[in-house]
Amino acid sequence: MGSCQYAEIIGLGGYVPPRVVTNHDLALMTETSDEWIRSRTGIEQRRFASESQGTSDLALSAAQNALHDAKIESQDIDLIVAATTTPDYYMPGMGVLLQTKLGCRPIPAIDLRAQCSGFAWALTTAHAYSHNPQYGTILVVGADLQSRVLDFSMAGRNTAVLFGDGAGACVIRTITSSSKQPHPSCLIDHVMGSDGSGCSTLYLPRPGFAQDQSCFIHAQDIKDKKTIPHMDGQQVFKHATTHMEQTVRTLLDRHNLHINDIALIIPHQANRRINDMLQDRLQIEDRKMVHVIHKYGNTTSATLPLAMLEAVEDGRLKKGSLIITTAFGSGYTWGGNLIRW
Ligand code: UT7
Repeated sequence: MGSCQYAEIIGLGGYVPPRVVTNHDLALMTETSDEWIRSRTGIEQRRFASESQGTSDLALSAAQNALHDAKIESQDIDLIVAATTTPDYYMPGMGVLLQTKLGCRPIPAIDLRAQCSGFAWALTTAHAYSHNPQYGTILVVGADLQSRVLDFSMAGRNTAVLFGDGAGACVIRTITSSSKQPHPSCLIDHVMGSDGSGCSTLYLPRPGFAQDQSCFIHAQDIKDKKTIPHMDGQQVFKHATTHMEQTVRTLLDRHNLHINDIALIIPHQANRRINDMLQDRLQIEDRKMVHVIHKYGNTTSATLPLAMLEAVEDGRLKKGSLIITTAFGSGYTWGGNLIRW
């Protein structure tokens, strides 16, 4: 009799730094108000890392929590897939730092750069590797520390109020089953897409090796604020709503599912208005949408696992629940996951 392989999420963990930064705090740093931020984004507060924390430190805490939840040791991990847009160093990536800080064996640690879609893509990548018997236990991490690249001048305030720091992680284990019945808990399917023509609507121009630049970074780049993200918020908003909805619809269609079959939608947390629009278009009840943006802002590649954790803790995400994640970010990149929890 043939056997089937499934990849199951066996542990989930998150971490946000203790420093809470409210909208009122930001109003002391830039020309903004609690009212503007709440009404335009749904954000009430976010967390900023301390000066002594790097992105891999946030990732480490989230990973340790996920390992604890999975009841495994770091020595059990066969592969790390680490998503971040804000690595500790330009070179090497964050994954290898995490491998050492966690005390793992000399296993491969892949860095994945898909910005706000990072965790959705990292889960997809981990699922693909899980079919290889070398990688039976995979740690997937999304961690970002955006608070160091925010511009609190008038020019940058539309972006500066959106982001917070945080990390999330999960452990994937491959299960081989001889049963003909589908495994009750598994990663089922994924969507990934990109469109680089949207690059200039949300990007961090320097440092880099773009053709029209004479060096990796120049003192003038810092003065010209090229080392902070530049965003055309309205363009990004428009594309986010379209692709996040399409991602969900693609997953539903491929599996002959109706939206009512889905217990929860776990969306990226960039703007509450984006997610309200998504809810409206998909015609889903309030209780099926997970929001954490009011507490954490946009934590880039950490939003999906932090939202999953919220739903586990408030009792909405239970063993066996069929869920869909959907995310959109700089690139453009987009993606989502259909998961039987
Ligand atoms: O994670 C994926 C990437 N990011 C996103 O998905 C973000 C997508 N975009 C957005 O969420 C929204 O476009 C923003 C929240 C960034 C901006 O909201 P908006 O409704 O598109 O505002 P806007 O940029 O059109 O600006 C409206 C007004 C402007 O003033 P005037 O010209 O109407 O007088 C801005 O100068 O709001 C002003 N403004 C602010 N006012 C107070 C912009 N930023 C701020 C601010 N505080 N922080």
